[in-house]
Amino acid sequence: MASIPLSVSLDDEQGELVIVDQTLLPGEVRFLRLRTVEQVWEAIRSLRVRGAPAIGIAAAFGVYLAVRHSEAVTAEDIAQTASAAAVRLASARPTAVNLFWALRRMEQRLAAACVLGCSRDEMLAALRDEAQAIRDEDAAMCRSIGEHALSLLQPGWGILTHCNAGALATAEFGTALAPIYLGQERGYGFHVFADETRPLLQGARLTAWELMQAGVDVTLICDNMAATVMKRGWIQAVLVGCDRVAAYGDVANKIGTLGVAVLARRFGIPFYVCAPSSTIDLECPSGDSIVIEERDGREITSLWYARPMAPEGVGVFNPAFDVTDAELITAIITEKGIARPPFGESLRRLMQA
Ligand code: MRU
Repeated sequence: MASIPLSVSLDDEQGELVIVDQTLLPGEVRFLRLRTVEQVWEAIRSLRVRGAPAIGIAAAFGVYLAVRHSEAVTAEDIAQTASAAAVRLASARPTAVNLFWALRRMEQRLAAACVLGCSRDEMLAALRDEAQAIRDEDAAMCRSIGEHALSLLQPGWGILTHCNAGALATAEFGTALAPIYLGQERGYGFHVFADETRPLLQGARLTAWELMQAGVDVTLICDNMAATVMKRGWIQAVLVGCDRVAAYGDVANKIGTLGVAVLARRFGIPFYVCAPSSTIDLECPSGDSIVIEERDGREITSLWYARPMAPEGVGVFNPAFDVTDAELITAIITEKGIARPPFGESLRRLMQA
């Protein structure tokens, strides 16, 4: 994936988190160097770094950097610094469970180091190693998801995807785009249709860009064209990522995913959700319990336009995610294998594996 920049990496020598600013893509590939918790928080909040796995990884490195750049020496002070950083970073976005999962891992690793009576240097090393492990494991999980997902696809298929669940949204490779990249390597000749994904255009700006960088055949459509390409018989499978999978298989993902799932059911097209185990939240009983982020209405009325495209003062509803009901999902593809309905059972079995 040499042609696609890493979304998140650590420059340990400088003590900086390096991210590619995704708000500037595809026009500009600019790397940002972040040192403070506030900088990492802002980057997550404003989607400079985005995608459920990538924000978890960024937050984990954020906790490490908070301790590294602090003057905390005693175990108590270090734990307090890390905890304050984790609380702040957890408030950046509410929906993707990977953020909370990664922060919990960091806290647990630090707690274990404290129990062992480690020095400041040892605790720092433990935090850095844990954040790096979260990153590296994500890359491995994505590859494995790609293999499992590819086993469900056939050469020459048309595949529709929504938002961006590619390399930019993860450590590397992506979740929903992982099988596309593997298929590309193996000569599958997929034709990908990327929903532009209103209002923040992750499909147009990011998915179309990264697939083109990799030489994949991609066609961009507006979100409201998905029904037309399905009706024409151009789509044989839908592949999407997700931000949280509830225990019985309801899935939160980028706003518009639910509509795509409804359409896929109407046209008899399999609807596959790709999810690393870090996105599966067995403590969350159903989609109703998932907090859905609401964002600034100006993302709809004016963000991409030279002048506002809605009357001033109009009320706006701008949920960033929706929940696709388990009954609309053909399979949830994880790094551990493929879960099929009923998901309550299959997800639990996979997570225990
Ligand atoms: O608001 P975003 O761009 O962070 O939303 C991202 C998505 O909805 C992705 O589909 C999801 O996080 C999966 S990324 C592998």
